[in-house]
Amino acid sequence: MNNTEPGMILGKTIYGYNYEVLLNKGVALTNAYINLLKNRGFVRIYVDDEETADIILEDPVSEKIRIMSTKDIFKTYQVTRSSIANIEADTAESIIKCINTPKVKKSFQESHAFKQLCNDINYFVDEIMNQDILSGLNSIKSFDNYTYEHSVDTAVISLLIGKRLFLEKDKMVQMTIGEFLHDIGKIFISERIINKPGKLTAEEFDMVKQHPTYGYELLKDIQRIGTTSAHIPYQHHERQDGAGYPRGLKGTNKLDKNGVAYTEQEKMIMIAEIAALADVYDACSSDRPYRPGLLPDFVYEIIKSGAGSQFNKELVDCFLSVVPKYPVGCEIKIKNGMYKDFTGVVSSLNIHELSKPKVRLIYDDKKKKINPIEIDSSSHSVCTEIECIR
Ligand SMILES: [Fe+2]
Ligand SMILES: [Fe+2]
Repeated sequence: MNNTEPGMILGKTIYGYNYEVLLNKGVALTNAYINLLKNRGFVRIYVDDEETADIILEDPVSEKIRIMSTKDIFKTYQVTRSSIANIEADTAESIIKCINTPKVKKSFQESHAFKQLCNDINYFVDEIMNQDILSGLNSIKSFDNYTYEHSVDTAVISLLIGKRLFLEKDKMVQMTIGEFLHDIGKIFISERIINKPGKLTAEEFDMVKQHPTYGYELLKDIQRIGTTSAHIPYQHHERQDGAGYPRGLKGTNKLDKNGVAYTEQEKMIMIAEIAALADVYDACSSDRPYRPGLLPDFVYEIIKSGAGSQFNKELVDCFLSVVPKYPVGCEIKIKNGMYKDFTGVVSSLNIHELSKPKVRLIYDDKKKKINPIEIDSSSHSVCTEIECIR
């Protein structure tokens, strides 16, 4: 938002707390609008400019389905939250007891929002089945609605991986419902801790570590969800090496010292392994009020270096084939050759070489605006190295 100036044209519609339109795509920004967005916690927005107006930021889901699903996740959280409004429970045991009361289960299961959310899933899965890769940056998230938008983006990434693995549609549906609600356990933890911008104390972190269990307890016996989906919230913070939480499960790609695979009960299920990876990718890439999102090429390396220890190794390979290192729309700098230190944006991807996109250079090495130059970093005559700068 620091580089946003009055007169710039908004590139994507911005929605408010209740998913009402705050500012429409195409509107010219004023000081008042910029302040409004800053106050709402936006760290960054999309603007259209002459040099990049033709670059298409494709979203694997349509805006209609994305907003509908986000809104229904938001409403499902709201009804569940209101069902526990007057309950005082402060230990993990008493919270689990409270989650399992008919009042809480019923208000969740019978809410219009939850039924609606279950209906959204078919549309959502169908749309993603027609996509192969995530070409652009993830969605820009607002402070208030981060959790719901993060849940949708996590589902998008997981489904793209699932499609590459040829998962059947019912598995994709199971995965989506689990992803949409993977962090719902957080509503049973004080908002003061969940939204704390700084570092958590050890005690606070212990409380946060209960959210997978709470989510599982809420969803485990809900008929329209099924036990498999409920294991996504339960296992999404587990790791391959057993260092995750809450149960320290291990991953499927590890064998014990006799070369024998772990038994079912100790293993993570695969759709939860996918969720664990997508969750970290999206959380790191997203802007938060206390820090802008980490750069895409950096997050890409975080996932790559976690292969085998944090994430399932084969799933990381699959992830790297559907998520580009330099997404379309991302600002980059050239690191070598005749255009060294020139900057610009990724204009399109090379499907067979996702890490070597086409880029449009807009500024020279002295930061002076130039007539845009289009270069293909996959061209073998020039070896062009690039890095993300924003
Ligand atoms: Fe989580
Ligand atoms: Fe999450």
